[in-house]
Amino acid sequence: MTQKLNLAVLISGSGSNLQALIDACKAPDYPAQINIVISNRPDAYGLERAKKEGIPAIAIDHKDYTSRAAFEAALQNALEQHPVDLICLAGFMRILTAEFIEKWPHKIINTHPALLPKFGGKGMYGEHVHQAVLNAGETESGASIHYVIPEVDQGPLILQQSVPVRPNDTIETLSARVIDQEHIIYPRAVRLIAKEKLKQQKQA
Ligand code: GAR
Repeated sequence: MTQKLNLAVLISGSGSNLQALIDACKAPDYPAQINIVISNRPDAYGLERAKKEGIPAIAIDHKDYTSRAAFEAALQNALEQHPVDLICLAGFMRILTAEFIEKWPHKIINTHPALLPKFGGKGMYGEHVHQAVLNAGETESGASIHYVIPEVDQGPLILQQSVPVRPNDTIETLSARVIDQEHIIYPRAVRLIAKEKLKQQKQA
């Protein structure tokens, strides 16, 4: 078997982007595999998606921890139980601290439902992003895959895809158009990174 990049996927909800990654990983020549799925919400549907595929999936409920540091210690501990080369945030709705991010340099990526650097930052997640895009009267929006750095949504971009904003768009119609593109470019971005990192591992 050819070598694969080991992924952890962090989710908080439906996990449709997780599903896109799961589906991509099924192709024999896809250079990555998902070893663990972690949700900070025990009721996240994405956990069911993972279990259906036989992928280890656990909840670490942030509400069970008195501090962000304690939650992240539990997260770190869970990640250390598996080989993990890259952490993919896929609708993970917790802001990670600089201390956590620095433990995984250049090893955490995220999907964001807008054309960063526009419409990013604290409070810009899920529906709030699409509402802000509509309020601003933008004629285009899109999806961005980027590296995670301590400054929220400001890390280097890996891939972006734009979509039109139509005059009659609602949050629902716009978010559906954007998420369709996330499902395409997230697996593509992981493939690019996996190829590069595997090449570096071989040369080391
Ligand atoms: C996605 O649109 C993702 O970009 C967004 O949440 C959705 C998760 O959907 N993430 C953020 O807004 C993070 N700032 P999913 O659970 O079906 O993948």
